[in-house]
Amino acid sequence: MSELCPSILSADFNRLGEQLKILEHEGIRVLHIDVMDGIFVPSISFGMPVIRSIRKESGLFFDVHLMVTDPIRYIREFAECGADSITVHLEACSDTGAAIRAIHDAGVKAGISIKPKTPAEEVRPYIRDVEMVLVMTVEPGFGGQKYDETCTAKIRRVREIESEEGASVHVQVDGGINDDTVKTVVEAGADWLVAGSAVFHGDLKENADHLRALMRAAGA
Ligand code: DX5
Ligand code: ZN
Repeated sequence: MSELCPSILSADFNRLGEQLKILEHEGIRVLHIDVMDGIFVPSISFGMPVIRSIRKESGLFFDVHLMVTDPIRYIREFAECGADSITVHLEACSDTGAAIRAIHDAGVKAGISIKPKTPAEEVRPYIRDVEMVLVMTVEPGFGGQKYDETCTAKIRRVREIESEEGASVHVQVDGGINDDTVKTVVEAGADWLVAGSAVFHGDLKENADHLRALMRAAGA
């Protein structure tokens, strides 16, 4: 099942609860939550208290993207805060296998992510052990950047590796997803599309409906 996953990094935090209600009402099922530590990426976003407080009133699937060095240190706590899936970066883990096991031991779904310059081949050893591969289509760290065209071939390559390994994963893309890029990523094989600025800037309801219509038109 393909999903549009709004990223709250671009939300208006003064009205976060209200905005999540609007999205939920529009039929959005997955919320993308970007956690940044200021070390793995230059910026710092938010963490456990925010997730804990939105969890109280939201039935959305919480897809937590950890842009954090040594994420294994925090997996249990994010699961306890209400994450439904936790995605870690291969580049941030000293033992990716252990991080994936820790995520599953915490009772949530596991994702692995690669930055634009990391080759698709690096996901091969883990692809059978995770539910999702996140192909970053910008350098992680900030919303509102331009889609990196070199990542399109990588989305396709991850799908090939999935079939070569007999795996079954969601392929998520994150960064620069908007009117101009939805078709490209869907045709390349992405089924979970993260969008921050394209959802939260302007009219949320219209943006979410429009992006999902584009996804359907592209065959998602
Ligand atoms: C960037 C984050 C993204 C970000 C995407 O490091 O992982 O999830 O919110 O923002 P847009 O959709 O504006 O490129
Ligand atoms: Zn993200």
